[in-house]
Amino acid sequence: MPAPLTLESTVAEWLDHPAGGPILRGVLEDNGQSPALLTAVRHFTMSRLVEMSGGRIGADELERLAAEANAAAGVSPDAPRPAPAPRWQERITQGRFAGSTVIITGAGSGIGRATASRVAREGGRVVAADIAQDRLDALANELDGHEVVPVRADITREDGVAAILAAADGRADALANVAGITDSAVPLHEVDDELWQRVLDVNLTGMFRLTRAVLPLMMAAERGSIVNITSEAALRGSTSGTAYTASKHAVVGLTRSAAFMYGPSGIRVNAVAPGGVATGIEGGMSSTMGRERLEPLLATLPTIAEPEHIAASVAFLLSDDSVNINGALLPSDGGWSVQ
Ligand SMILES: NC(=O)c1ccc[n+]([C@@H]2O[C@H](COP(=O)([O-])OP(=O)(O)OC[C@H]3O[C@@H](n4cnc5c(N)ncnc54)[C@H](O)[C@@H]3O)[C@@H](O)[C@H]2O)c1
Repeated sequence: MPAPLTLESTVAEWLDHPAGGPILRGVLEDNGQSPALLTAVRHFTMSRLVEMSGGRIGADELERLAAEANAAAGVSPDAPRPAPAPRWQERITQGRFAGSTVIITGAGSGIGRATASRVAREGGRVVAADIAQDRLDALANELDGHEVVPVRADITREDGVAAILAAADGRADALANVAGITDSAVPLHEVDDELWQRVLDVNLTGMFRLTRAVLPLMMAAERGSIVNITSEAALRGSTSGTAYTASKHAVVGLTRSAAFMYGPSGIRVNAVAPGGVATGIEGGMSSTMGRERLEPLLATLPTIAEPEHIAASVAFLLSDDSVNINGALLPSDGGWSVQ
């Protein structure tokens, strides 16, 4: 007799359930989507999928499907459920960033937010920069009692960069360049100048400008760690549109050049390339050609990570634990890049 399905059951439990599996696959097929898309989220609970979908998947509808599946399998919804499988847990290294000021962009959401939270809880003073004030307010609220300096700043503008530097107050032990935007998966011949400029401005030029402003502080201190967020899109041409892919490849060049130039000054510069991550980033595909070309590859994603998974990689590279690592490009993608 199978265990009852609920919103706290994982996607894998639903798919492997004798009645729930066919129901879930049927719903996807009715919506013109391939059940293969669920492979990368097998470990998520249904309630996490509801949260991630931003309203596209309704909790009520899933409750109804669970009741239908349980009835078809003859299982009481109150029957005992197996204990959940052990999951990865973030383990805080107490005091790893004590005495350090760490600037983090894109700190209001997703990977930046998870990194800001981790660094603050490990004792760092976090200069948390984002363009969105409401997100910064929520972050500061969540990290009440920790040292967080929220800065509303657009990294593409010189006044934004200046505001971040002012908040750093003459000290920058580490910098995580996380803020970034996507490009709706548009192939080259459909990219207009505005999209090109916006994506390059945020993903590359903003990172360049802020790093240029922060480096003198690190050079004077003869130490520093910079982590630039690139993407799986820096490792292949088949995950995103042309502007995003070009910007993320360029981030690797910026990282390697700076690592080479400033290594002798005690400054390490590394890059992290996340695969798929469950964040608030815009994931839409506005181009038919882009969608048709990219969707088959996206279905091969081994797993979608939580922002905290990527923050663990970023925090390692920001910290002294990565003392001997400079100029590295670290895929944090569940192994996607070796497929
Ligand atoms: N989510 C993924 O699947 C994924 C995969 C690979 C790489 N990445 C990269 O990770 C980084 C973070 O993405 P995320 O998924 O956490 O996205 P997100 O949208 O959840 O967070 C990005 C944050 O950056 C902020 N931001 C955007 N433009 C800014 C600007 N001009 N100045 C200051 N802040 C700005 C946004 O307000 C937002 O809070 C990006 O560089 C993205 O390209 C994400």
